[in-house]
Amino acid sequence: MFSESAIKKIGRSETILILTGAGISAESGVPTFRGENGLWKKYKPKELATPDAFRNDPVLVWEWYRYRRDIIRSVEPNPGHLALAAMEETVPNLVLVTQNVDGLHARSGSKRILEVHGNIMRSRCSQCARTLPADEETWRNGVPVCECGGMMRPDVVWFGESLPRQVLKEAFTAAEECDVCLSIGTSALVQPAASIPWHAVQAGAYVLEINPESTPLTPHIQEFVKGKAGIVLPELLRQVREQQQKNPGR
Ligand code: OAD
Repeated sequence: MFSESAIKKIGRSETILILTGAGISAESGVPTFRGENGLWKKYKPKELATPDAFRNDPVLVWEWYRYRRDIIRSVEPNPGHLALAAMEETVPNLVLVTQNVDGLHARSGSKRILEVHGNIMRSRCSQCARTLPADEETWRNGVPVCECGGMMRPDVVWFGESLPRQVLKEAFTAAEECDVCLSIGTSALVQPAASIPWHAVQAGAYVLEINPESTPLTPHIQEFVKGKAGIVLPELLRQVREQQQKNPGR
C-alpha cells in the first residue's frame, strides 16, 4: 500500500502537515461536495453559500446549514479521523489543516487543527462579528440573532470570501517547513487551500496523497495511495508505529 521510504520518512519526520477534505468524513456519512452524490450535484452554491445568498434569503441559507448540522450531529468520527488523532503521538510536530467545517477532527481527539473554512457548529454576527457556539444561539423567525440585534450567519467561509488570514498563514508556514505532507480526501480544486500541498512540493517535502480517485495534484507528488481514508490511514499508522519500534530515534 505504501512504499518503504514513505513509512521511514513519516516515522522519522519532525514536522508533518496534513491537509484533509470532505473525503475523510465520507465514511462517517457526511456528504462530499463533488462526485456522484456530492452536495453540489443537488444544491447550487450561489443560492446557499455566498454572501449574496445570505442577504437575499437568510432563512433559506440557514435551513440548509441546519440540515447539514443535523447530519453532523448524528454521525461519529471514523477510523480515518481516529488514526490521524493517534498520529500526533508519533511525530514531534503534526499540523492538521482541514477544509472541513464538521468538527470531526476535534471530536476524534486531534489537537492542533487549523480550520481554514471555519466551523458549521458556530455562528458569527454579520454586524459585530461576535461568534457563538450553536447551542448558545437565540433563534428568531428562522435565523439566530445576536445581542447587538444583528443577524448571525454560519461561521464558515463562503464562495467569494477570504479565508481567515492568520489560520491560512500558519498553514502555509507549515507547508514550507514540513518534511512530509499528506493530502487526504480532497479534490484539490478549491483555492487557496488546494495550493497548500503544492507549496510543500516546492519546498522539498515528501508529498503523499490518499484518495480513491486521482486529482490534479496526483501527477506532481511522490506517492499516490488509491483507497478510502478509513482503511488506508489505520494501516499507515500501524506501519509507522512498527517502523518506529524497530528503529527508535529519528
Ligand atoms: P470535494 O467534495 O471536492 O472532494 C472530496 C474528495 O474526497 C474527492 O477527491 C473524492 O474522491 C475523495 N473521497 C471520497 N471518499 C473518500 C474516502 N472514503 N476517503 C478518501 N477520500 C475520499 O471536497 P473538498 O476537496 O473538501 O468549500 O472540497 C473543498 C471545498 O469545496 C470544501 O471545503 C467546500 C467546497 O465547496 C467551502 O465550502 C468554502
